[in-house]
Amino acid sequence: MAFGYPSMSFVGIPIPVPSAGSTGFGLRTAVDRDAPAVLEHYRQLSPDDRRMRFCATMGPAALERHVERIGSRGGVVLLAFDRPRFQAPFLRHGAVRAVAELVGTGREMELGISVDAGLRRRGLGTELVETAAHLLGLRGVRSIRAYTLPGNRSFLGLARTAGATIDAGADEVEVTFDVAPLRLGYLRRRAENAFRLGR
Ligand SMILES: CC(C)(COP(=O)(O)OP(=O)(O)OC[C@H]1O[C@@H](n2cnc3c(N)ncnc32)[C@H](O)[C@@H]1OP(=O)(O)O)[C@@H](O)C(=O)NCCC(=O)NCCS
Repeated sequence: MAFGYPSMSFVGIPIPVPSAGSTGFGLRTAVDRDAPAVLEHYRQLSPDDRRMRFCATMGPAALERHVERIGSRGGVVLLAFDRPRFQAPFLRHGAVRAVAELVGTGREMELGISVDAGLRRRGLGTELVETAAHLLGLRGVRSIRAYTLPGNRSFLGLARTAGATIDAGADEVEVTFDVAPLRLGYLRRRAENAFRLGR
């Protein structure tokens, strides 16, 4: 698997530019033909992780239905994938390692996020949330809401670190992220990357 420098980010700047992405993954929005790769990512999550992600038990058929038209059904779907070791025309990227799905309209959207179990605690979840916030902020979205089950240490940890508001109910936990500080985090990351490249 390829990590490190240089990476390619396709998000946030009009043209793809090399960047020393802190996680070393390629990020871009999904298109419909990504459905099989996204399905494979969801299939590899443990049953517990899937329940935390979807607040429901998702069997194989439900997952297949879920990824239909992943890139064209509205909202924003961000993917992080293994990048090829070299950037060149016709080189294909590798497996999808993390997915952030945002649905809704108006000033608030709802987030569902998952990262491959073997790649957690590297900042990938945070990078996806911040990047999504940047894209949504440009569309006038002010807050991002997410729902999970009580006891989801990883997501609630991420939410706390990102300064989100956490409203814990008996059966469900509601998390609200403010888009503005997340966008600042995204811009800070891009600036740091540009600075590193310039040295
Ligand atoms: C929640 C999830 C997306 C986090 O992804 P991640 O890439 O590991 O998150 P990050 O590396 O950005 O973590 C950011 C911070 O969150 C906190 N955190 C993450 N995982 C944690 C854990 N297991 N325990 C405690 N804190 C945790 C930490 O503060 C971490 O910062 P640090 O590593 O510098 O201490 C991932 O664990 C996952 O896919 N879980 C299953 C699906 C799910 O629960 N989705 C959320 C509901 S939609």
